[in-house]
Order: sequence, then structure tokens, then C-alpha cells
Amino acid sequence: MTSILVMNGPNLNLLGTRQPEVYGATTLAEIESMCARTATELGIGVECMHSNHEGVLIEAIHGARGRHDGIILNAGAYTHSSIALMDALSSVALPVIELHLSNIHAREAFRAHSYIAKVAMAQICGLGPAGYPLAIRALAEHLDR
Ligand code: DQA
Repeated sequence: MTSILVMNGPNLNLLGTRQPEVYGATTLAEIESMCARTATELGIGVECMHSNHEGVLIEAIHGARGRHDGIILNAGAYTHSSIALMDALSSVALPVIELHLSNIHAREAFRAHSYIAKVAMAQICGLGPAGYPLAIRALAEHLDR
């Protein structure tokens, strides 16, 4: 069965209360339920994980090889700084969709640069929580081809 790993990085555990004017009122638990519902609908597996720690995220990427067929990653602020996450994604060579709730291109200039984009097949940003089910559908379709 096709399996997708959905990863959320630093500060995304605070969704719902964190800058709701930017990120909305939906919690991470609600987003993870949306992901599970979408996966059930598509008849695929999904595992959701969150960490505030770069090393834990890197190890989750390493662990995805052989267990998952693709990755959806909202790396939070590590998007703009982490060559290590970029290298981890290159090392496992799984298809990756980069995801952001906000439109990183319409915010501070430093958010427009993404190390993840260098190794991702696509980027979805600015759609809020709706981006997650969309990313799962797009990745499942890609893996089905
Ligand atoms: C974010 C955008 C990042 O710039 C920010 O650091 C986050 C959240 C988003 O989902 O819009 O933590 O990844």
C-alpha cells in the first residue's frame, strides 16, 4: 500500500493559537485528522509526525526510506536555514512536496528563500490547512503514475 509521511517542523505544534492572523485557527491535531481522512478516502497509508528539533526531523527523513513512498514537509523556519534537512531529503531520494500554510513569497524577504525547494518536486503555500489534503492527493497521484 502506498504510504506518505507528513512532517511538521518547529512551532507548528502551536497552530491554533500561534499568530492566528497568519496561520489561522486550525490546530495541528485537526490538520493531522484531515490528512488521515484524505488517506482513507484514497486508500493509502499516512503517518504524521511533528518535531521542534532539526535532528529528529533528519532522522525521521532517514527512517522514511523503505517505509514510505513520499514525504510532505512543512519544515517551518528550518525551510529558510537548514542545509542539513535539504541534504537528508536528497539522501533518501523520495519524492517530496514542500508545504506552507502561509504564502512565504508574500511575507518577509527572508522567507522567500527555501532550501527545501531545491530538492522538492513541488511547493504548495498560502492555502492554509487545505494545502495538506491537496498535497496528499497530488503526491498519491504522482506515485500512482
Ligand atoms: C511556515 C512558514 C515559515 O516561514 C515559518 O517559519 C513557519 C510556518 C508556514 O507554514 O507558513 O513556521 O512554514
